[in-house]
Amino acid sequence: GLASEVRIVEVGPRDGLQNEKNHVSTGLKVDLVNKLTAAGCDYIEAGAFVSPKAVPRMADSKHVFQQIERSNAVTYAALTPNLKGFETAMEVQADEVAVFTAASEAFNKANIRCSIEESIARFDPVFEAAKPGGVKVRGYVSCIAGCPYQGWVDPAKVREVTQLLLEKGCYEVSLGDTIGVGTPGSIAAVLKEVLETVQPGSIALHLHDTYGQALANILVGLQHGIRTFDASVAGLGGCPYAPGASGNVATEDVVYMLDGLGIKTGISLDELVKVGNFISTELGRMNGSKVGRAVASS
Ligand code: HMG
Ligand code: MG
Repeated sequence: GLASEVRIVEVGPRDGLQNEKNHVSTGLKVDLVNKLTAAGCDYIEAGAFVSPKAVPRMADSKHVFQQIERSNAVTYAALTPNLKGFETAMEVQADEVAVFTAASEAFNKANIRCSIEESIARFDPVFEAAKPGGVKVRGYVSCIAGCPYQGWVDPAKVREVTQLLLEKGCYEVSLGDTIGVGTPGSIAAVLKEVLETVQPGSIALHLHDTYGQALANILVGLQHGIRTFDASVAGLGGCPYAPGASGNVATEDVVYMLDGLGIKTGISLDELVKVGNFISTELGRMNGSKVGRAVASS
């Protein structure tokens, strides 16, 4: 059977906002995180400590972390591509950090300006620095089902990079379909390969919904024993280095599906829908969640 409970990693404040064309105020980011906390999200990726030249929208992540109202029940995490990022994350008491690389050399070069091997070497000091304080490190592997630059990606490469990150010290690796091209067939093939050597409890799925396949792919993940899914309120987001890719699967849509399956998330759908409508209005965007739109007009 399927899991009775799953963990949702809310990436809206980070993945959702990192690619916004227009300026997003620190105050709005703080409001968003606080509202997600109130809706029952227990894991929120609240920012990224990356080069402000590379991703200007995340340049104020330090202030976001300093200004949010924290709940003890919530993990507030940040992306940290290197030691510099980790040190900043610790200055503002991020609860967890995430390192990120890819199964595609071409994407990694564009995104973090180094090879896969070099990126993992840059993470070594992060793992070292995280150890004494027991800070948990999450990992991301992008382009698991296709790459905007090189096209096809070998599932064996996904497994190899995932395994390496786990050996180095990640407690979990989130498999990213960065451009949302995966289908239940190709995602099942990647999972089958990865699960040859990795436990499903160490894997999360991070699915952008560009081609509308994400919910179906989450169901495939559940059938393979995956119990952690990344999602973004109102389906916000995209990666600046994945042109044309749309946001993550909308958290509202995932929670609605899981509620229907009787799988607990701890998140209140009603409250979450309000948060999705709030942020969409503030950003002047159409709400990217079908559930959010349906509830709002019902
Ligand atoms: P680099 O140029 O190779 O590194 O960039 P560098 O060490 O030479 O540093 C270049 C400049 O960045 C320097 O500043 C550094 O001080 C600064 P300058 O001297 O030019 O003024 N710098 C930093 N500033 C703040 N915080 C830091 C930091 N590190 C260096 N931590 C680097 C390499 C990784 C830094 C850069 O390419 C970068 O920051 N890239 C950002 C990539 C990114 O954030 N992408 C989006 C997130 S990933 C994603 O969306 C995918 C995901 O959602 C999963 C999926 O969907 O598949 C996670
Ligand atoms: Mg992403």
